[in-house]
Amino acid sequence: MRVCVIGTGYVGLVTGVCLAHAGHDVICVDNNEEKVKLMQSGQSPIYEPSLSELMQSSMQAQRLSFTTDLGQGVNHGDILFIAVGTPALPNGESDTRYVEAVARGIGTHLNGGYKVIVNKSTVPIGSGDWVRMIVLDGVSERQKELVGAGGAPVATHPEVTADFDVVSNPEFLREGSAVYDTFNPDRIVLGSNNRRAIEMMKELYAPIVERQLSDEANLPPVPVLVTDLSSAEMVKYASNAFLATKISFINEVANICDRVGADVTQVAQGIGLDSRIGNKFLQAGIGWGGSCFPKDVSALIHTADDYGYEAQLLKSTVNVNERQRLIALEKLQQVLKILKGKTVGLLGLTFKPDTDDMRDAPSLVLIEQLNRLGAKVKAYDPIVSQSGMRHGLSGVIVETDPERLADGCDALVLVTDWKKFKSLDYGKMAELMNTPILIDGRNFLDQEVLATAGFRYMGIGR
Ligand code: UDX
Repeated sequence: MRVCVIGTGYVGLVTGVCLAHAGHDVICVDNNEEKVKLMQSGQSPIYEPSLSELMQSSMQAQRLSFTTDLGQGVNHGDILFIAVGTPALPNGESDTRYVEAVARGIGTHLNGGYKVIVNKSTVPIGSGDWVRMIVLDGVSERQKELVGAGGAPVATHPEVTADFDVVSNPEFLREGSAVYDTFNPDRIVLGSNNRRAIEMMKELYAPIVERQLSDEANLPPVPVLVTDLSSAEMVKYASNAFLATKISFINEVANICDRVGADVTQVAQGIGLDSRIGNKFLQAGIGWGGSCFPKDVSALIHTADDYGYEAQLLKSTVNVNERQRLIALEKLQQVLKILKGKTVGLLGLTFKPDTDDMRDAPSLVLIEQLNRLGAKVKAYDPIVSQSGMRHGLSGVIVETDPERLADGCDALVLVTDWKKFKSLDYGKMAELMNTPILIDGRNFLDQEVLATAGFRYMGIGR
């Protein structure tokens, strides 16, 4: 099928590349010229396992191209994905300005046959109908241009069409395993009341539904859930809010464990064996971050507010997380007492492993607070230390290897659970430190290995 993806952030680029790999003919559109040039040369602007390889092979097969020309993309695609950002405004509300600009732009370029416009961006509930309205505004603008302001009604000029439907198709991929998640989703959710649009979406996703691109053998087809527009939009918010709440829950349990002398990792195992609870997303630590959870939970609270409902549980989910981000600081104060003049080393900076994403990373709050208390902050991160990204960070000296990081530190805090941190030379690192203390903000390391290496080890809730 002919597909156009507008917006080449995490969601858009991964969607475009994976649909091209699945055999579709894809054009990705972005208004950032530099980024488009980079992608045209076969390079991915983000780090994501196997994304570059799939991107290059689809480009070679001429099933994937990049452009800044929205008109070209709209012309090409029978299915048009809107995948631009919806960042949170200071009050928690979603900023839908980019979606609006794209929807209007699509309207001004609609001139072929029937199109399905897909909302892939996480948009506030009710946005499906709003997108339809904005696209129609764009169509009218074009109409006026062509026939003059006093001309005939929308879509009567032969070069203008308004034959389209809007579908909500929320994205559930995780950063760091975005390609894997796209080919192995738990479900595909399609929100629309229009049968023709749903049939086209099902055809688009057939190779994924039938597991043609999955490495795992003998799996049943991916469940496809068809809902109305608003319910599909709500599925996205409710999923992320539930997962964030699950983490805040286990973090709260961890804080109680700390006080009563229980071990939250054992507790998580015990409760996770209950199939009604499940064992995933029960890893206690210094809280959740990233580009999705913080923004989506705030947006859902805000939407509820708009309708006169106070989302008390979700507010607590956020409050617990904000307090949790300071848990490492509390522990540092417990062991080092005064932090002024001390040097603290952070192992990891990104909000989670296998990504270069620093959006809403718990490390940023920790750096800010340690600076405020007069501590010197150093950090080592497998990705940030390698890339030019380190220059954008303030209040922290980014070291190029773990031993340089340890040198002269009064304590280390493991912030991100990068696999590589399991096998560092902790013995040597302990020797290089003023006081070998390690706060494991992800309960990731083996306490005994650390103790043998000479560290005083402190986890979260264990
Ligand atoms: C999340 C959702 O998982 C995904 O479905 C959605 O589409 C986008 O948001 P992502 O932001 O990539 O994906 O990260 P995820 O792996 O879910 O982790 C989110 C945060 O929670 C990270 O900061 C992670 O460290 C933290 N986390 C996760 C925990 O603290 N404990 C856990 O048990 C799991």
